Amino acid sequence: MTARILDTLHFIGTNDRNKPLFESNWPLPFGISYNSYLVTDKQTALLDTIEYGSDRSYFEDLELILNGRDLNYLVILHMEPDHAGMIGEVLQRYPLATIVTNARAIKLLDIYFPNIDKSRIREVKEGDTLELGHHHLQFVMTPMVHWPESMMAYCTTENILFSQDAFGTFGTLDGGIFDDEIDPEYYKDEMLRYYTNIIGRFSAQVEKTLQKAASLPIRIICPVHGPVWRTNPRIVFDWYSQWAASKSQPGVVLVYATMYGHTQRTADYIARRLAENGVRNIRVFDVSKTHPSFILKEIWKYNGLVLGSCSYNTGMHPNMHHLCHEIEIMQPGRKKAFLFGGYSWSGGGLKNLQLFVQKMTEQHKWELPVPGTELAGYPALNDLKNLDKDLATYAASLNNITTV
Ligand code: FEO
Repeated sequence: MTARILDTLHFIGTNDRNKPLFESNWPLPFGISYNSYLVTDKQTALLDTIEYGSDRSYFEDLELILNGRDLNYLVILHMEPDHAGMIGEVLQRYPLATIVTNARAIKLLDIYFPNIDKSRIREVKEGDTLELGHHHLQFVMTPMVHWPESMMAYCTTENILFSQDAFGTFGTLDGGIFDDEIDPEYYKDEMLRYYTNIIGRFSAQVEKTLQKAASLPIRIICPVHGPVWRTNPRIVFDWYSQWAASKSQPGVVLVYATMYGHTQRTADYIARRLAENGVRNIRVFDVSKTHPSFILKEIWKYNGLVLGSCSYNTGMHPNMHHLCHEIEIMQPGRKKAFLFGGYSWSGGGLKNLQLFVQKMTEQHKWELPVPGTELAGYPALNDLKNLDKDLATYAASLNNITTV
């Protein structure tokens, strides 16, 4: 899959519709694309590669565009194998190519491709420039967006940002490669899911990167996943600014774990009371049905989080435990929490949710206005009604947190 960006700049990428889970963790119902970019100036340079084995036509495409020329440089912006997978083969096919990358990436190269001839590597630092002719690539270090070695390249002559994972998205490129060939809104949700599942944990570093980029006139953004933003790159810049700042809106994500529907009864009761108390955005999920990947994306959007779990072997349900683990890792910003549980022969779901929220309160300034309630068996209507006062207080409080 190729596309001309300029006469001397080309997109070479592939769609992966086979991989079920990105990083063996995050579902890919709409697939994913891996993008690389080829500069054909006085000197030629390939920026990043694609996942190993994801497309047998990748080298055909590369050769076609090189049109008999050699490859002078392989620029490595990010070493995660979804982009670095083909490095070994590129270097074999183009023995004169020099690797251009930073010191941290060189260390990673050594563990993924230990047989690379070190004399083929040129180390670059912040602000260094690779001059290819018309195109001058200036390197900008962006550690932890997404890995420690991650960096971007900015073409100072054409104002193009090669942003690697940043501004990338899940979802294949279904015909349209450029933002003017697609509906950007179609990708917004999957871009947010990519952000919240992959990069969100490093939002502080994303904000630093956005501050650096804000001083540059950016005409085109070329990420390593998803569309190339050549008509309105501002749109993804604005989305990222909002997400990185964890600017949430009033609303509630309510997630419950239930085995036989009893905790679900409490969940539906709570959702109804919250709506009656004026909460307009309420998203309810059964954690055993919806993967945390999708729930995290919703949690990022809203300032309220209601968690409820049945008791399971004296703790919380394993799927709720999984979600809490992902929340703790990905750090979706400050939340106002409300907890509930269900039990029969033992409690434990609520207690363990409380321990989780206590940790989030200490580390990320979450708030838990009331300790929560654990209801026995099939929740009696009178017991549910006892939640009403707390729920009214909780609903009223949600307008008070909008930003971290
Ligand atoms: Fe798309 Fe961090 O790799």
